[in-house]
Amino acid sequence: MPKHIARLVFLLLAFAVIAYAAKQYFTVDSFYLFGHYRGLSVADIASDKPKFKTPQYCEQCHAGQYAEWAKSVHNNVDLGKVVKCEVCHGPAGSRDVKGRFENVATGRDHPNGLKMAIPTETAKLCTLCHEQMPGRPVQQRQIVVATHAGTQQCTACHNPHSPRTFKVAAPTAPRGDAVAGKAIAAGCAGCHGEAGIGGKVSGPGLAGQKPDYLVIALKAYKTGARDNPVMSAMAKGLSDNDIDSVAAYFAAAKCKSAGNGDKKAVAAGLSVAARCAACHGAKGISAQPSWPNLAGQSGEYLVSSLKSYKAGERKNGMMDGIAKDLSDADAANVAAYFTNAACR
Ligand code: HEC
Ligand code: HEC
Ligand code: HEC
Ligand code: HEC
Ligand code: HEC
Ligand code: HEC
Repeated sequence: MPKHIARLVFLLLAFAVIAYAAKQYFTVDSFYLFGHYRGLSVADIASDKPKFKTPQYCEQCHAGQYAEWAKSVHNNVDLGKVVKCEVCHGPAGSRDVKGRFENVATGRDHPNGLKMAIPTETAKLCTLCHEQMPGRPVQQRQIVVATHAGTQQCTACHNPHSPRTFKVAAPTAPRGDAVAGKAIAAGCAGCHGEAGIGGKVSGPGLAGQKPDYLVIALKAYKTGARDNPVMSAMAKGLSDNDIDSVAAYFAAAKCKSAGNGDKKAVAAGLSVAARCAACHGAKGISAQPSWPNLAGQSGEYLVSSLKSYKAGERKNGMMDGIAKDLSDADAANVAAYFTNAACR
């Protein structure tokens, strides 16, 4: 054989050996185990799972949040429904790579090097489980986001660690000067009664009402967000300072319950009032400074405001839906119930 042919054969043979060795060496064992796939990579990825630490781990350092959560509906052990800390905050552990707890993407354990995320987009997080949709079992509490929350974050009202508890802003001391407010209030007595005690006069009772709410209501008349021919004109004549003062005066004034509800209607109203309790309190004293007390308010005024929410003349994200679901009889009964309740 000519020398150059022998060299060529040798070269081809060497190439074939290298190619075969390379194929043996580089091909993953599981290639073709499940067809034309690298079959073990799925298991590979799965072994890189987040390592959850359980709520008990969090308790050591975040006792406050743990205590709230442990008593809440999200820790409903009886029903077997538990929404653990790490469902919302993400895994607190490093990642488990093939049985060795190595740090891949997340770095080290929380709090040693791994920062936990505080969910800010609760309108997306909470709706994963609570947004109403056809296939979702009714036992899983659902809301229609548009009417329930609109564009607000869920945490605007719900405490995320105890979602049946509503955020209560600390009661604020009235900013205004009650003495100056008394002079202004003289102009209101004709319609709101002496010292803000309503009842039989045309305007609602104001005595003992939440000061923040009074300010909100007067400013709403002033800007036109709430429209009433008489009150809009009255409020336009008041400076922001006057509003603070007159609110401070009426909030501090001693109230007297209108107390003229029909007995039968009061009894019927009790069950309707359960729908209002979360915001207005079971007895009509609201938990939130910016939400109005209803206890002792004039019954006629309660009925007329429920009507104006229902008709869309007065608008409020929370009250609109509630008023639409109230029949006229329910509205009359619940008004009787609250008008009879003791004011404070
Ligand atoms: C050994 C104590 C310790 C444990 C256990 C612990 N944390 Fe923390 N956590 C901290 C410290 C310290 C900080 C503040 C430093 C930081 O942001 O990393 C913190 C911060 C946080 C923050 C952010 C608060 C903020 O204001 O930025 C969240 C959320 C959080 N932890 C959730 C959890 C959760 C959920 C668990 C249980 C899976 C947990 N933590 C377990 C000590 C701990
Ligand atoms: C349903 C979701 C959810 C669960 C479950 C949950 N959290 Fe939170 N957590 C939040 C949200 C949302 C915030 C932000 C609070 C805010 O914006 O007012 C938060 C805030 C925090 C903070 C920051 C400080 C604070 O209170 O604002 C810590 C710490 C924390 N959570 C720890 C925990 C621990 C510990 C658990 C379990 C015992 C837990 N969380 C369970 C949603 C949740
Ligand atoms: C992983 C799913 C999940 C997430 C995320 C979640 N929840 Fe829940 N939620 C539940 C379950 C399960 C219950 C218990 C339902 C029951 O007891 O019937 C519940 C109960 C509630 C309830 C009480 C309903 C009732 O019975 O009156 C409220 C309110 C609530 N969640 C609000 C929230 C808010 C606000 C967030 C976000 C910060 C949130 N949830 C995030 C699953 C979730
Ligand atoms: C403006 C305040 C407010 C906001 C914002 C809000 N909620 Fe609520 N939510 C309430 C009140 C008040 C109740 C209790 C009313 C009741 O019992 O009828 C409630 C009840 C619920 C319930 C229980 C419903 C049932 O049928 O028992 C769920 C679930 C819920 N909210 C989830 C959410 C989620 C998810 C978000 C964010 C998209 C959210 N909420 C935003 C005030 C609010
Ligand atoms: C001519 C009669 C009249 C006078 C004078 C008057 N008001 Fe009114 N006020 C009303 C009526 C009627 C309503 C109910 C309007 C409605 O349904 O929106 C009302 C409503 C209000 C509300 C809202 C109450 C609530 O519970 O939402 C406030 C606050 C208020 N008035 C404050 C004042 C103050 C302060 C003055 C004096 C500076 C004043 N009003 C003078 C007739 C009057
Ligand atoms: C989700 C919380 C929420 C619930 C539940 C709720 N309300 Fe309200 N309500 C409010 C807020 C907030 C306002 C103040 C709105 C405004 O400024 O117009 C209000 C205002 C009112 C007013 C007007 C008071 C005034 O002084 O002008 C009446 C009447 C009223 N609610 C009755 C009811 C009744 C009856 C129910 C139950 C069937 C109910 N509400 C349930 C939040 C709620």
